[in-house]
Amino acid sequence: ATKYQRFDPVKLPNRRWPSQTIEKAPIWCSVDLRDGNQALAVPMNVSQKLDMFDALVKCGFKEIEVGFPSASNTEFSFNRRLIEEKRIPDDVTIQVLVQAREDLIEKTVQSLIGAKQVVIHMYNSTSPAQRKYVFGKSKEEIIAVAKNGAKLIKDRLHRLTESGTKVTLQYSPESFSATEVEFAKEISEAVMEVWQPTPENKMILNLPDTVEVCMPNVYADQIEWICTNIKNRESLIISLHTHNDRGTGTAATELGLLAGADRVEGTLFGNGERTGNLDIVQVAMNLYMHGTDPKLDFSNMNGLIEMYERTTGMTVPPRHPYSGELVFTAFSGSHQDAIKKGLNGYDDHKTIWDVPYLTIDPHDIGREYHEVIRVNSQSGKGGVAYLLESEFGIELPKDMQREFGPIANDIVDSLGREVSGAELKQMFWKEYIER
Ligand code: KIV
Ligand code: ZN
Repeated sequence: ATKYQRFDPVKLPNRRWPSQTIEKAPIWCSVDLRDGNQALAVPMNVSQKLDMFDALVKCGFKEIEVGFPSASNTEFSFNRRLIEEKRIPDDVTIQVLVQAREDLIEKTVQSLIGAKQVVIHMYNSTSPAQRKYVFGKSKEEIIAVAKNGAKLIKDRLHRLTESGTKVTLQYSPESFSATEVEFAKEISEAVMEVWQPTPENKMILNLPDTVEVCMPNVYADQIEWICTNIKNRESLIISLHTHNDRGTGTAATELGLLAGADRVEGTLFGNGERTGNLDIVQVAMNLYMHGTDPKLDFSNMNGLIEMYERTTGMTVPPRHPYSGELVFTAFSGSHQDAIKKGLNGYDDHKTIWDVPYLTIDPHDIGREYHEVIRVNSQSGKGGVAYLLESEFGIELPKDMQREFGPIANDIVDSLGREVSGAELKQMFWKEYIER
């Protein structure tokens, strides 16, 4: 939940208020264990995948794409362990990916026997380049591939539903953002004709920005066009799946939500093919910053990063929004001074977080204030005074701050590195007590 109301927005003339923020959390689906995993030099083993699965559940994900069970024994046995060891909470749905091929669909269905609720996610690629170079197929032939796969899945559903498994179906026209929207609509409607979704039993239509090829507003326009023009929209959950090739995966997802989508697929910290998938942490924390409850819990960010780095072998860059190690660190003196004033003036009963230079209260994600302010040669008197006071209770009067600030800065400058509060205390001691 959020502690604060919306960050006070700058009101722009001629702009409608709702387009300035996202009012409601989307349905989130983590694809860490599939899209994230397939992009690792060394894919996770079953025990690493189990650790990651438990951590995703703890964060509050209710939909988790757990793999591609027809692709390997590891993937298949991961599903079986999740199901047989009853590790999937009742309110969590596992999702599996499959291509529109009979042998793969058969194996996928087998991997799901006994699960409480599942999403079967079928995809085939639809862009002109994929049609021409990869498949050498016409539009009609590509539609036939999708329809045939949809039928093969439909024919096998009873094997799951008869033993009580609730199944939701998902279709992705892969490379959607590079596909003619009219064709994406046509092929999606062909799949809908087979699966017959209803408002009570919706299917998921996932519209991937498989490779970012356009500006984020263009992707949002494509989403809006589909939402407006597709038949039977009320029987669909429209899902976004962005990657980050142009560095705008977050922007594309946020604009896609404003354009009418209901659901978001992505990964922790943006792991995924090439430049990665959408970083769900970023979008969720952007909602949080604006006072919208993201319905995901990142209050132990350090623990999550530790799990992520241990299981994937990847690292979170120090300046990564919200999660990076340096996000709540101020090096510049004027920033330190403003933060100090903001924190001193902040009162716990306030509902709007407005401390300068800190987008959110670092405590909300389990970070500490003492990590916030460091002193190096760029720091001013404010940072020096803050460290002496917060770490040692030495409260410098204003005149002394003005005098000692430059003295400390000169020493720090000559050292050419950052200094700790203890070192500052020593300098202070030498200057005023021992002299
Ligand atoms: O990026 C993509 O298009 C995918 C699909 C399989 C959904 O990962
Ligand atoms: Zn993807």
